[in-house]
Amino acid sequence: MSKKPSDPSKWHPATLAIHGLGRLPKAHHAVSTPIMHTSNYYFDTADEVEDFMRAKGQGKVIREHEYARYGNPTQQETERKLAALEGAEKAVLYSSGMAAVLLTIMTFMKPGGHIIFTGDCYRQTRDFATNFLGKFGMDYSIADPTADAIEKAIKPSTNIIFTESPTNPYLRVLDIPAIVKVAKARRIMTIIDATLATPYNIKPIEMGVDVVLHSATKYMGGHNDLMAGVALGSAPLMTDLYKMQRMLGATPGPLTCFLLERGLKTFGMRMEHHNRAGLAIAQMLEAHPKIEKVWYPALESHPDHKIAMEQMKGFGSVISFLVKGGNAETRKFIDALDLFLITPSLGGSESLVTQMWAMSFFDYSEEYRRNIGMVDNLVRLALGLEDVDDLIADLKQALDQI
Ligand SMILES: Cc1ncc(COP(=O)(O)O)c(C=O)c1O
Repeated sequence: MSKKPSDPSKWHPATLAIHGLGRLPKAHHAVSTPIMHTSNYYFDTADEVEDFMRAKGQGKVIREHEYARYGNPTQQETERKLAALEGAEKAVLYSSGMAAVLLTIMTFMKPGGHIIFTGDCYRQTRDFATNFLGKFGMDYSIADPTADAIEKAIKPSTNIIFTESPTNPYLRVLDIPAIVKVAKARRIMTIIDATLATPYNIKPIEMGVDVVLHSATKYMGGHNDLMAGVALGSAPLMTDLYKMQRMLGATPGPLTCFLLERGLKTFGMRMEHHNRAGLAIAQMLEAHPKIEKVWYPALESHPDHKIAMEQMKGFGSVISFLVKGGNAETRKFIDALDLFLITPSLGGSESLVTQMWAMSFFDYSEEYRRNIGMVDNLVRLALGLEDVDDLIADLKQALDQI
């Protein structure tokens, strides 16, 4: 028999990431959630099939699983924990962060509708807007990441405001309650990609956001070894999302779900480390004579410092900065780093570094790149879980070599 939990509503994120909203019975009393590698789940009798289908039609659950595209037990357990962590009624897991982003937009967009995206949002999300939305009869605008600019971009046909906070690479932090106020007054849905913040550092549902998205590939998985995405919100909204997800089969496999759930067990500790490391290294870089400018929301020099201090508990481990000099100096610095791997992504155990224009914006024209701030000397660090003193020493020795 499962015990009743004390009061999970009082638990902190580190506890919720391990226990969800309490203990559920598990096969063979296993402590970890077993990986159920099967594509289908059998019925014992023909009558059982009929009973199951009838109950399903009436919205009742008399047994959980039937076919793996519709979900698997490891996924269900992971979704339960993610929902508890986010303070959402329900979660829907996807095979990648982009599957979560695109299928959420596609589920809620309307023909003739208009979506506002904030600039500086993830490149693939922006590319979806510019290259594909028109084909579905949707219009879109890209607004600056401020509540004022978003309000000005609203049209009578606007039905979704899609934001990120913090954005990437400039880590702009949006005034979420102000955006929600503007949206609710006009019955516009708000969707936020909070990958860079995680539920450890920001709580968009408490601020009234309708749907929160994360690339779980990042901090939630936490080890640079899986791809997954998640959408979180009210039960009715998540039911709509689930219909599309199960149809398309953008379902994460059982092994991915196991790795993600396992990663969540150290989520609280990892986020504490990421927040501490991010702050220490941002401060070190800002004081360094070979650095021109640093973007990190905890720094007073950041344009959204005040909003960030009000809304966020910590600021994570992504730091963007300009190296003094141009392309050559920036590359010399990157190549001299010992502990940082040159690759995109963030939120894992290994520290990563990217020269933004070359890694993520290479195929754009130079003029366009400059317009969106992807200058030659812009570097983004995604700190891992190594000792902070070792990372500082590595960054300093690499800067010395310029
Ligand atoms: C903010 C943000 N959203 C979404 C994604 C897409 O996630 P995934 O790579 O898991 O598809 C990324 C990936 O870097 C991201 O940084």
